[in-house]
Amino acid sequence: MPELDPAAIPASRRRKALAWIAIALIVAALALAFAWVAGWLSPGRLTPQRFTNAIEAANGQVWRGFRRAHAKGVCVAGYFEGNGQGTALSSARLLAPVRTPFVGRLSIGGGSPYGLDARARVRSMALRLDSDDGQQWRMAMNSFPFFGVSSVEAFYEQTRANTPDPATGKPDPVRQAAFARAHPEFARFADWAAHAPWSTSWANTTFNGVDTFRFVNRAGEVRNVRWSMQPQTPFAEMTPEQRDQADADYLAEDLAARLARGNLRWDMVVTLAQADDPVNPSQSWPEDRPRVTVGTVVVESSSAQATGACRDINYDPLVLPTGVEASDDPILAARSAVYSVSFNRRQHDIASGEAAAATGHAATRESDR
Ligand code: HEM
Repeated sequence: MPELDPAAIPASRRRKALAWIAIALIVAALALAFAWVAGWLSPGRLTPQRFTNAIEAANGQVWRGFRRAHAKGVCVAGYFEGNGQGTALSSARLLAPVRTPFVGRLSIGGGSPYGLDARARVRSMALRLDSDDGQQWRMAMNSFPFFGVSSVEAFYEQTRANTPDPATGKPDPVRQAAFARAHPEFARFADWAAHAPWSTSWANTTFNGVDTFRFVNRAGEVRNVRWSMQPQTPFAEMTPEQRDQADADYLAEDLAARLARGNLRWDMVVTLAQADDPVNPSQSWPEDRPRVTVGTVVVESSSAQATGACRDINYDPLVLPTGVEASDDPILAARSAVYSVSFNRRQHDIASGEAAAATGHAATRESDR
């Protein structure tokens, strides 16, 4: 057999072969990157997919077509009105004295879209604000004033400790106690959950951003901040007896009744950190930090989440306008990644027609009690 002289192969065929090899290498590199991101190369690594699987397991079942956390809620719409006090702190257009429309969502914590409102310790407000400069600011805030644990891994362990035991249908108290022992910082959150007064409505609940962000002003000055939406509706406490008697969906019913009488308002209050204040959301800042009211959230209407504009929004807390940035807070990036997986799963459920009945509450309400 004659020796194959490479020089004898026409240059065009050599180029073609090299091009195919290059394509194959790119495809292999992409497959490797994909496998790495998906966690297939390191089975023990905590990935957004694995975290979302744990949340689904803790929910006791996969509620197809719904957010894997904060599954029950309503869409709201309105505007944010800046008062100009925030413009010295951040160049975000929203903080100028202008009105910025939003599509928002009020919800309760928990993974079931049929959860009982009066049993949900955590209530939430999410906003997607669309400024007239084409930028967006998305926020997702909770009624708790600080996060229960200091790391993503600890929150994963908390989620796993709260997963129902198949034998009893309830979380294993031994496992929960072991989690609390391993994470002593959680005691402060447990104390808040046990003793903080319950408000009677979404309308008189304070919603806290909890995570730490950076405000950057036009001069390039940077400050760490946290913000809260403080209700203009006066606080009223809901007694345990009132909670026992409340309708499963009383929050949405109460909201609709209040909106029929007029708009609802929350002041956005920004707290400014001092140099050494921690960015970790499990650690509170001293009470004496300066606070600036920068504007007002005005809710004008509500609609069912099954058909409302909030259904297909991922309230990713890292979608930020110029003038607002993420801090080194370790929880923020994990939130963004896990919300994306949760969003993609529910959008897939909806697109493939696998979403659970998304409208009525009645069907499973009694069996949920
Ligand atoms: C590592 C920590 C956290 C994880 C893994 C996590 C997980 C999730 C997931 C999976 C969703 C559903 C997202 C969707 O399908 O659109 C969600 C929603 C939400 N989370 Fe978190 N979360 C974390 C921390 C926090 C913190 C610190 C806050 C506090 C401000 C918060 C507030 C909310 C709110 C308000 C919603 C509902 C947003 C909406 O209405 O769409 N989360 N979370």
